[in-house]
Amino acid sequence: MSRQLIAGNWKMNGLTADAEALAQALIAGVASAPGHADLLVCPPFTQIATVAGILRGSVVAVGGQDCHMQPKGAHTGDIAAPMLRDLGAGFVILGHSERRQNHKELDETVREKVLAAKAAGLIPIVCVGETDDQRRDDGHEDVVGWQLKGSLPDGFAEGDGVVAYEPVWAIGTGRTATEADVAEMHAFIRAELVRQFGEAGQTTRILYGGSVNAGNAASLLAVPEVGGALVGGASLKPEDFLAIAAAAPRG
Ligand code: PGA
Repeated sequence: MSRQLIAGNWKMNGLTADAEALAQALIAGVASAPGHADLLVCPPFTQIATVAGILRGSVVAVGGQDCHMQPKGAHTGDIAAPMLRDLGAGFVILGHSERRQNHKELDETVREKVLAAKAAGLIPIVCVGETDDQRRDDGHEDVVGWQLKGSLPDGFAEGDGVVAYEPVWAIGTGRTATEADVAEMHAFIRAELVRQFGEAGQTTRILYGGSVNAGNAASLLAVPEVGGALVGGASLKPEDFLAIAAAAPRG
């Protein structure tokens, strides 16, 4: 098993003082307990430079939460992948369900953003996951299968791209997927990645996301085909985020 990736998605949280305090606490935490997972935090755009400055030279990487599909141009309010790279980001979350819902992002938009991220030297973390209704109708595999097919461009798995399975009903709700749900969906996603990309799809990391916390991390991270976690709410508390990282099995 390779090292797991524990990624924090800070979403739209954090003024400068909060971001500084969180980054400093992470530095202090990893210095005293180095751990065995790769760590990443994805602050809001406005805090990337600050956080990247504090974390430079540490084991904690920095990423964005979205990027535009074009490298520059007349796109008021948008942020391009090279801009994230320029600020010190190495990763970018793409196709998060909050963007798919709130900004009507389609799979093809996500696919173009993945290409833009890769062209800029960023590692994309592509999110997929079904809604409550889709699961109730037994459509979860179909939905996730289509999202993978539509959102991942050719060559995705040959690079360092990461997939995150985040059932929409588990995000921010405290309603975590069961280990059986996670095992079923991660096995399904692995099979889809191999079908889509052949041998290269065997090693793509598949993160689980949705109400991961310090209490449930160990059991979720031990599920076969889980290659780490994408953590929202709990990533805003450094002690919880570090406890989740400490719960990752040794790679
Ligand atoms: P949550 O968010 O951990 O607060 O459920 C996860 C995510 O949206 O990435």
